[in-house]
Amino acid sequence: MNRFRLLVFISFALSSALAQETIQLSIMIGSSSGIDFVRDAANEYMRLHPEVAIEVLEGPARTDDLLAIYEDYFNSQEGVDILTLDVIWPGDMGDFMLDLYQFEGFSEAANEHFEAIIANNTTLEGELLAIPWFTDAGLLYYRTDLLEKYGFSDPPETWQELQSMAQVIQDGERVAGNEEFWGFVFQGREYEGLTVDALEWIASNEGGTFISSEGEVTVANPEAAEVLELVASWVDSISPPGVVDFSEEESRSVWQSGNAAFMRNWPYAYSLGNADDSAIAGKFAVAPLPAGEEGASVAGLGGWGLGIPNYSAHPEEAAAFALYLSSKAQQKQRAIAGSFAPTYPELYQDEEVLAAVPFFADFRTIVEHAVPRPSAVTSPNYAAVSRAIYRAVHTILIKERDAAEGLEVLAADLEAITGFPRVQP
Ligand code: GLC
Repeated sequence: MNRFRLLVFISFALSSALAQETIQLSIMIGSSSGIDFVRDAANEYMRLHPEVAIEVLEGPARTDDLLAIYEDYFNSQEGVDILTLDVIWPGDMGDFMLDLYQFEGFSEAANEHFEAIIANNTTLEGELLAIPWFTDAGLLYYRTDLLEKYGFSDPPETWQELQSMAQVIQDGERVAGNEEFWGFVFQGREYEGLTVDALEWIASNEGGTFISSEGEVTVANPEAAEVLELVASWVDSISPPGVVDFSEEESRSVWQSGNAAFMRNWPYAYSLGNADDSAIAGKFAVAPLPAGEEGASVAGLGGWGLGIPNYSAHPEEAAAFALYLSSKAQQKQRAIAGSFAPTYPELYQDEEVLAAVPFFADFRTIVEHAVPRPSAVTSPNYAAVSRAIYRAVHTILIKERDAAEGLEVLAADLEAITGFPRVQP
């Protein structure tokens, strides 16, 4: 073999050895979960770990759509190596996810996150199915400029106040020429987000959480019916008729183009609302959600973790990348640049985080008091429970049923799905 051929041979052998050694990992990120930050993080990680190649796939924005994809992965035992897990899923997905405690670094890391999130992500047997990545709690976004313009000094504390303020501002803005303007946008579509909004309305009106943590179906009660009647009356009055098909992103789009006085949404909408391309940058603030006249504000608890499915061919490497993505340094960057709420209590005292997202100073308390959906008590049937809830609430919003009747149907469905007794208020 002459020298040239030898060189070609050696470099070929080397590169194929390297190619063989490169570990291919993949992750799917919902389009509104900060995918660009994950791409940057993956690039940095590959620079530090040249032996892995990470593919970041864009997933759907809505949690239900992502769940459908994951269910296919579980059935076919094939799919991405790192899953982003909604806080409501660990209970339902236990059979398909690995215990992260078998991998290096997770025991130490787990101690640093909010305890309640770790508990949520841990099975009865003590297996950690997801390492927390960001947390979520429902917030009221309001236009500071418009509240001032119409003489309101504070954001509304009750749903009734929200309704009357929204009406005044909407009427005024329409007279001023903006025919597209609406008072309040929220998540009225038939999907998981509606379950959360409904939990916030009902629990803040002293109507409970659909199913109690003791395993009783509590949803058919007059307080729940009262607040759902009120919300149904907003459709096509202070809220656009299309709100019954809005998820987070549709609400944000109306809000961010300057066409709504109030919005219910999660923290991620804060950074996007203040971005250069937003019509409302610097013109809004956030507050706790309103409550019923007799009740207290309730933020629904959301959030996401990272876990490794049992079919992954490279679980150890996948877990190492999940640990990196969920690290304090990564969460700090995502908090500052994308207002994704950290799962490390410590970061709520971080000056740079608070300078970028001032409301995080109060958010820690909101998260600590946020009310979870009944996922733990109904697992592994939460997905079916939630489907029954959002379908029933949707029939009320679109006025197919009145609230009391819709809740009766729901209570019967929930009894059938869970086998739990129904309690009369
Ligand atoms: C957010 C929350 C998640 C919730 C979803 C509903 O992504 O973090 O917990 O299920 O919204 O749309």
